[in-house]
Amino acid sequence: VERTFIMIKPDGVQRNLVGDIVSRFEKKGFKLVGGILMSVSQDLAEQHYAEHKERPFFGELVSFITSSPVFAMVWEGENVIATARNMMGKTNPADAAPGTIRGDYGISVGMNIIHGSDSPESAQREMALWFKEDLTDYDKTVNKWI
Ligand code: GTP
Ligand code: MG
Repeated sequence: VERTFIMIKPDGVQRNLVGDIVSRFEKKGFKLVGGILMSVSQDLAEQHYAEHKERPFFGELVSFITSSPVFAMVWEGENVIATARNMMGKTNPADAAPGTIRGDYGISVGMNIIHGSDSPESAQREMALWFKEDLTDYDKTVNKWI
């Protein structure tokens, strides 16, 4: 099965949205296999967002993500990478549909609550970057109903 890297950004943690967001993924039927509240170093932020290094908002992005703790997670389940992106909604919360995380809670593209890997390659890269070998494997007996 597939795994994806999900991070609740500093605005989501500060606004007390961790419980709501974790709950959405749990209720959907996905399995939590890793989670940590952490401050992000400059180096980790720059590596995570390396693909945006040349963009004009790169500095703003790195300083936002290092400004206050994030809640980093790995979720497992069938098609979880694309499904999580759908649950998050469009990058700019102004374009994100109601019912999505960004659509329900976000206002600006800079502070858009949540990050999720955009492909299997990104998921692999990001899980290795953020979690090293701290993921927890276990059976969920409910899985036969999902
Ligand atoms: P992530 O899951 O965070 O990677 O978002 P995304 O995949 O939906 O968007 P993308 O990777 O293209 O951009 C990464 C992040 O950069 C976005 O989530 C935004 O927070 C931020 N970003 C994108 N465009 C802008 C912009 O024009 N201004 C600012 N300040 N931030 C931007
Ligand atoms: Mg992205």
